[in-house]
Amino acid sequence: MRVLGIETSCDETGIAVFDSEQGLLAHEVYSQICLHAAFGGVVPELASRDHVRKLLPMLRKLLADADLASADLDAVAYTAGPGLAGALLVGAAFGRSLAWGLGVPAIGVHHMEGHLLAPMLESDPPRFPFVALLVSGGHTQLVLVNGIGCYRVLGESLDDAAGEAFDKTAKLLGLGYPGGPALAALAAKGDPDRFRFPRPMTGRPGLDFSFSGLKTFTRTTLQQASKGLDQDQLKRLKADIARAFEDAVVDTLVLKCRRAVEQAGVETLVLAGGVSANLQLRARVDRLMAERGGRACYSRLEFCTDNGAMIAYAGWQRLRSGAREALAFEVKPRWPMTEL
Ligand code: KG4
Ligand code: ZN
Repeated sequence: MRVLGIETSCDETGIAVFDSEQGLLAHEVYSQICLHAAFGGVVPELASRDHVRKLLPMLRKLLADADLASADLDAVAYTAGPGLAGALLVGAAFGRSLAWGLGVPAIGVHHMEGHLLAPMLESDPPRFPFVALLVSGGHTQLVLVNGIGCYRVLGESLDDAAGEAFDKTAKLLGLGYPGGPALAALAAKGDPDRFRFPRPMTGRPGLDFSFSGLKTFTRTTLQQASKGLDQDQLKRLKADIARAFEDAVVDTLVLKCRRAVEQAGVETLVLAGGVSANLQLRARVDRLMAERGGRACYSRLEFCTDNGAMIAYAGWQRLRSGAREALAFEVKPRWPMTEL
């Protein structure tokens, strides 16, 4: 079965074809970063309009690259939520119309289930049961995964998501949008011993997170330590703050991962979502799971952030278990994974 995947929940247009026999046949991602950079964040209406512009040419190129005709597609999967309502509607309308025209089934996929299953596209995929740490711009969750659709949320962020905390902190340090990767690059040059930021909610039991205090900590540290500095010293200060911030987030995430795998009694930890591209986090979960005699799994870097391949794959998993959509469709800008 060949499934087309369409991702338009935020600021990336992603499209891919997954073949249940041959694996991923082709994929394309277009990032709208340039479009939104001047505004310092995603402008929802501009995002929707750009998805409209990009989808059709991207589909044509994708099919040409994979040497396929549209009639070779057996199903269409699209992101139905959570995400920006207008952006979701573009992908949903496009996907449903295409499926209708081709006479094939369509399926609306949960964006976070897409992220969660993305590591299954790799050559040595994780086996159930496992604990997944989902860390994106909108979500931070620890989920016990017993199979496709068998998800139990063990803990989540009570305020900012990890990616959101990276982005907001990056903005405070003048790194622009989207700040996560830039902040991580700057942190690599920072001194790990100059500042120590708090590890929020680690001193009490439980698996929830809270990252919003870290940006206040960043702001006050920057204000206090930057007085009277020349340009070079300011540059060094920002790198040291970036390092302290990244260490605090990574330490906190890893500590809760350890608790979650201990509590669930599993040997596999899956890392997924945009922040799973963070190299320090990847190295730390590798070490954590190696010490426990288990293993950590994550995607190749390009499938950590939003992409169509994860939607095609999750769509195939849903379709093979018999899921089909009625003709009427809706998108769900807010959609707890516990409703799956
Ligand atoms: O999964 P994703 O592409 O979109 C959402 O579903 O939100 O995640 C994007 C988030 C952004 O907040 C971005 O700053 C963060 O992932 N991110 C990173 C890194 N690469 C992307 N955060 C930390 N380190 C990175 N290397
Ligand atoms: Zn995402």
